[in-house]
Formats: sequence, structure tokens, C-alpha cells
Amino acid sequence: MALIARSLSFAYDEGTSVATPVLAAVNLTVERGETVVCVGATGSGKSTLLRLCAGLLEPTAGEVAVDDAPALARGTVGIVFQNPESQLFAETVAADVAFGPRNLGIPDVEVAVADALNAVGLDAAAFSDRSPFTLSGGEARRVAIAGVLAMRTPYLLLDEPTAGLDSHGRRAVLEAIRRTSAHTGILVVTHDAEEFLPWVDRVIALHEGRVLFEGAPAALAEEPALWAGAGLALPQLVLAQHLARQRGVHMPTIALDVEGAARALAAGKAEGQ
Ligand SMILES: Nc1ncnc2c1ncn2[C@@H]1O[C@H](COP(=O)(O)OP(=O)(O)OP(=O)(O)O)[C@@H](O)[C@H]1O
Ligand SMILES: [Mg+2]
Repeated sequence: MALIARSLSFAYDEGTSVATPVLAAVNLTVERGETVVCVGATGSGKSTLLRLCAGLLEPTAGEVAVDDAPALARGTVGIVFQNPESQLFAETVAADVAFGPRNLGIPDVEVAVADALNAVGLDAAAFSDRSPFTLSGGEARRVAIAGVLAMRTPYLLLDEPTAGLDSHGRRAVLEAIRRTSAHTGILVVTHDAEEFLPWVDRVIALHEGRVLFEGAPAALAEEPALWAGAGLALPQLVLAQHLARQRGVHMPTIALDVEGAARALAAGKAEGQ
């Protein structure tokens, strides 16, 4: 069971004088229960890729298949857009979160709403009756994400879910995504690579609409040239370890989390002494 993009190409305004080719022959697989993160410089085609995977745009060439079906069935793929909080519209948080699952005809909407709010770290009892317009930015983002989680789709596409949040808001959103990831196929687009690389299954680096790298996060961390080629800055933690290597510290692998990096640096230093 997987969401699969095969040789996906796309141009905005195809067939006109202002045609803008954005994606070229992109291949991608997201299995259920797998989290894949997509990184790339601004304009590299990340949001376009998500819209194609959600069936909101038609590919110019290639196809998106979900669980072997050529057409996207309703309720299979949920998408959280960039700055989703700007789309909150209902009078209460509960009504907003209930909109998607109610449209899909989910039988236990109240339970789905409460579960989704709790999953993003918002106490359903305290937040359900609030107006979405009285929420802080971080709370509103989480409500918007809850609205998509409540649809319980087997695949979830998230566009910059942590952008612009403080560390508390980021942690809450990351925890919600991780909790969902056990039984959902997730594709996350992000500029905050360091938040995701330690725990996601795979990473894809897009550069000008092409896949420059696909593989394990640890493998990408070993390739500073690839980051540069994709127009991306190496995460500081990864950069620090490469600099230590250049200065002669023996580091067989590059760690992606702070604890691992500290251990590797300490071990490498002890060995080199
Ligand atoms: N509706 C549109 N019509 C024409 N061109 C578009 C449209 N939407 C996006 N583009 C162009 O397509 C390219 C890819 O845009 P996209 O939004 O997919 O990039 P992105 O990787 O998500 O960037 P960011 O990190 O800034 O969100 C850009 O050059 C953009 O200007
Ligand atoms: Mg984008």
C-alpha cells in the first residue's frame, strides 16, 4: 500500500507562451506507515509536488497512483497547505476541525475531532468552543492540522508544517506528526530539515524540479556537496561534525541528533588524542 509518483512532470500554464516547467520526471514512493521528508530551495517545486500528489493538479506527464488505484479516491490523501491557519473559517474550533470528517461522512465525527485536537497537543475540552480567530498563531496552526488529521486519511501531505512557529509550537506539531506516522504514509515538505532528519524514514532533495537525492537521512548528511548543489545550507549540527572531521577528529558517521553528535565528537576526540 503506497502513494507512488511515477515520472511526474508538470508545467504551470502548459501550452501557452508563459508555460513554466516546474517538475521533471520525479519518482517518489511513500508507503503507509512511512514518513518521507522533501527538502529543496524556495521555488524548487515542493508545494507543486504536494498538490500533484493530492490530485489538485493534473500532471503534464507521468502519474500519481494511490494504493494501486489510478484515480484518487475521496478520503485517501489529506493535505495541509502552507500557512493553513489562514483558512480557518468556522465559528468554533470544533466546527472547523469537524468540517473535513463531516464532509467525508465519517460516522464518529465528535470522537475524530477530539482525537485530532488531542493529537496536536490541544486540550479538546478547553479549545472546542473557542473562536479560531482568538487563537495564537501556533494554536491556529495546530487546529488547522487537526482538521486534516480528523479526516483519518491513510496518506498525509504537509507543506511547511513547522514554519514560523516557536520551539513549543514546533515540538507540538512534530509530536502530532510522529504520532500519526505509525499508521499513515506521510510526505512533509520543510525548510526545517534538522527537525525531521533524526527520525524520518527517507529524504528527498529537490533541485529545480528534479530529484537530486533520495535515500536515508544519514546518507544525505554525508554529502555536503549535495546540499550545496540543492541550494540548501547544511544543518548546523551536521556542519559542526564535518568541520570536526576536517580538523582530524575521527568520526565514522555523522549523527543527526544532538545527543548522538555529542557522543560521536567525544569518542572521536578521545580516539585522536
Ligand atoms: N500558480 C502558478 N502559476 C505559475 N507559476 C507558479 C504557480 N505556482 C508556483 N509557480 C512557480 O513554480 C515554481 C515552483 O513553485 P513551488 O510553490 O512549487 O515552490 P516551493 O519549492 O514550494 O517553494 P517555497 O519553498 O518558496 O514554498 C516557482 O518558480 C513558482 O514561481
Ligand atoms: Mg512551497
